[in-house]
Amino acid sequence: MKFRWGLLFGLSVVWTVASAANALERQPASVYHARRVALADHLQGGIAVLFAAEEPQLDFMPYRQDSDFYYLTGWTEPGAALMIVGDAPGAATPRAYTEILFLPTRDLRMEKYTGVKMDAATPGIVQATGVDAVEPMTELPAEMNKLIGADRRLATKLWTQPLAPQAKALVEFTAATLGMTSAPETKDGTDLTAQLRVEKDPGEIELLKKASEASIKAQFAMMRAVKPGRTERAIAGLMTAAWMENGCERPSYAPIVGSGVNSTTLHYSANDRMMEDGDILLVDAACEYSMYASDITRTVPVNGHFTPRQREIYNIVLGAQQAAIDAFVAGKSTINDRDRQDPNSLDTVAYNYINTHGKDLHGDPLGKYWLHGLGHMVGIDVHDPAAYPAVLKPGMVFTIEPGIYIPEEKLGVRIECDFLVGEDGKLIDLDAALPHTADEVEAAMRAK
Ligand code: GLY
Ligand code: MN
Repeated sequence: MKFRWGLLFGLSVVWTVASAANALERQPASVYHARRVALADHLQGGIAVLFAAEEPQLDFMPYRQDSDFYYLTGWTEPGAALMIVGDAPGAATPRAYTEILFLPTRDLRMEKYTGVKMDAATPGIVQATGVDAVEPMTELPAEMNKLIGADRRLATKLWTQPLAPQAKALVEFTAATLGMTSAPETKDGTDLTAQLRVEKDPGEIELLKKASEASIKAQFAMMRAVKPGRTERAIAGLMTAAWMENGCERPSYAPIVGSGVNSTTLHYSANDRMMEDGDILLVDAACEYSMYASDITRTVPVNGHFTPRQREIYNIVLGAQQAAIDAFVAGKSTINDRDRQDPNSLDTVAYNYINTHGKDLHGDPLGKYWLHGLGHMVGIDVHDPAAYPAVLKPGMVFTIEPGIYIPEEKLGVRIECDFLVGEDGKLIDLDAALPHTADEVEAAMRAK
């Protein structure tokens, strides 16, 4: 189905819905529909109700759609709810697959601030959303009452986002409308969406590649601009400009531009220091393209030349990344295994490499200076959900990002690339165009 649409719209399996230059690229409506049907297959004949993100209380604060909601609908407007009823032909009251998108009552005053929204009465709304049925949000409790009233055993098969206050309120209200003495326990619907999201389809891979391409351009811009006397924040700023110029809507996380000892703080984001001659600079910064993230780290010498010690540590981190790449076997290797004991775990491979190469100033092995997991899934979220340690299979996109952080030496190095497991089981480095070796980094910095 995905490929049929791909042929209809040229080679691309995504397209831009609106004509605005920077509008999000969406996948065909059939793709989101297929994901909802796939979710229904996991519901054991039950009901899933998932909520979209709410518009922020302070409407001028950033808004981003809930990731699961986006995955299932491609819908970006706030305050919606999606109900999916699983097929249950043998139930007391036989049910067929049903999907309904509930849209909130428009707030015409707020629309003056945040823009016009659609509701269930908007002409062409079913086509615009691609969901089989669209109803006003006020109908959601009525639909719940109707379904569970007809088969009360359904109350034990409700899948929601456990942290969504709307989900709790809906379940409590439904229980009250049905005269139940207490609200039923719900199941975690995000466990199911996590399973679906972990293997990316061709349209998602296309968007992830675009996020990588824009992030690569910004990393190159960084390498050309870094020099003593510039601030970390100026570097974050010029990377942000490059992301926006290349079609991204936002950074995928707060940019980490850490020079000197700041390079050893894993998620440093103050970015308020002036870079000095001789510093190392760790830049973990990438952007989101049409809701899909990239996650890239490069570590560079501020004056364009690694010191021998910086180069030594750099090469150990690069060697650890390469060791993990070399050890990779699709369907067998795992990522993000904090125990670092299992030989199938790429974390174990990278850790053993770091721990057997180089020493700190006291002659101790370097393993203790690597403080985090080797990698994580990347998708609609920069840390996409998965059950870790995760076995790596075709269609998965994940980071390999070993690091060594030695505060005593004001020396932190992390090298992070995003990898796709191809259909043939081989690893594809989405950031292959960027410098990897220390010499390549220095050469990119010379190309000012
Ligand atoms: N890029 C930040 C992280 O992966 O934790
Ligand atoms: Mn990462």
